[in-house]
Amino acid sequence: VQAQTEIKLKPADQPQTISKHIYGHFAEHLGRSIYDGLYVGDTSKIPNTDGVRNDIIQALKDIDIPNLRWPGGCFADTYHWKDGIGPKEDRPTIVNQWWGGVTEDNSFGTHNFLNLCEELDCEPYLAGNVGSGTVQEFTDWLQYVNHAEGSPMAKLRKENGREEPWDVKFWGVGNEPWGCGGNMDAEYYADVYKQYATFMTSWSNENDLYRIASGPSGGDYHWMEVLMSEIPKSLMEGVALHSYSVIDWENKGPATGFTEDHYFSTMTEALKMDEYITKHSEIMDKYDPENEVGLIVDEWGGWYDVEEGTNPGFLYQQNTMRDAMIAGATLNIFNNHSRRVKMANLAQTVNVLQAVALTKGSKMILTPTYYVLKMYKVHQDAELIPVEFNSPDYSFNGKSLPAISVSASRAEDGKVHISLTNIDAKKSNTVKIDLSGLDLKKLSAEILTSDNLQDHNTFENPEKILPQAFTKFKNRNDNLELEIPPFSVIVFEAE
Ligand code: AHR
Repeated sequence: VQAQTEIKLKPADQPQTISKHIYGHFAEHLGRSIYDGLYVGDTSKIPNTDGVRNDIIQALKDIDIPNLRWPGGCFADTYHWKDGIGPKEDRPTIVNQWWGGVTEDNSFGTHNFLNLCEELDCEPYLAGNVGSGTVQEFTDWLQYVNHAEGSPMAKLRKENGREEPWDVKFWGVGNEPWGCGGNMDAEYYADVYKQYATFMTSWSNENDLYRIASGPSGGDYHWMEVLMSEIPKSLMEGVALHSYSVIDWENKGPATGFTEDHYFSTMTEALKMDEYITKHSEIMDKYDPENEVGLIVDEWGGWYDVEEGTNPGFLYQQNTMRDAMIAGATLNIFNNHSRRVKMANLAQTVNVLQAVALTKGSKMILTPTYYVLKMYKVHQDAELIPVEFNSPDYSFNGKSLPAISVSASRAEDGKVHISLTNIDAKKSNTVKIDLSGLDLKKLSAEILTSDNLQDHNTFENPEKILPQAFTKFKNRNDNLELEIPPFSVIVFEAE
């Protein structure tokens, strides 16, 4: 057992809500994310609702999915939305140039996606094509999905069977323009962004627009500086940030057969999220002291080599306790930065990168990452309780990382939740939490842990890793004490 961590819950200077949208997701037309993942088609024997697997719908409802970003990613800047509406037999096929060069038939399009979001009771987040599209195409899409009636696009929507608009609030203006979105520099993209944003009108009676500029990758502070200084706040509600936990783009290492060296490097990358958000927020504070523009981390998660024998362009990877550590620590970072971070989207929902669900034929398994999101959903739209603590180190090969991360919140019903992650690969840590002032009557907890870091759920053994009740804690006079095992996540509920 290592050194002790003492955690104090602090009174907030100003009340701060943790936006539920921090717990958002992302599904791209990539590999088996949509086709043979979420979407099996309405003639499939796999139980489905309008072609979308019922098991996945239920799983996403169970974690209270707040929003879903679609159709990309890099795919967004190649996607022409009109290819995906109207009778399926008339839709053109297209080549997915970024992801495996496969041909798709556009059978999953705007109606399928927006109806799915209605079914899930989550907000759609559409990423529009800037890289290979036009302002006209983009604004037509907005008119098609949001204009009630009397416009050419509303008429077309009605002809395609949808009377009411969907009232889409969240719109991304391109994706990664510094890379697959057009290899632009920040100054050029800022101008292009202004052009697109100028012509975007909500048309919705329900929602104001939330326009999200494609932001930096990781620590590209110049990109943020340019966007914040060049784009007037009247044209931009959010700026994106992408940051993946990848060891080395040329040599990412295996998703399951990894070493502690790999693990330590992955966690080093994952924990950089805190520094990125802190420094990007400082730049945003300079230009937007009123905190009106949100930081939208619309792609994050672990990225490894694909599973053996699978298409390298499909980014299919297994998901272990390492991924649970990335999720637990990252979500604590987002919660603690919820003043500026207003949305985040884990990449990606099904069968791609750090997925919450994997499918094989009619089978579906839920990953350790899924269970972290399930345990942490109590933080959605809850009031942040700032925490003060000093973490012991997780040391490896002469380097060290903070082992413990924590965040806390108070839900509308008054319950207090504290989520803790210990990323140490070998050592448990003693944690003491001062609960005085909470007027507690009941305390309970759940833990997600396993024997080995590399452990994961498989189609043969789908429930190897599941949250369990955690009772090994003592609470004397509002001083909670526990030992958090290595690589585990615990969430306390106090009422
Ligand atoms: O999520 C996979 C890809 O990663 C996305 O398409 C792109 O935006 C990012 O580089």
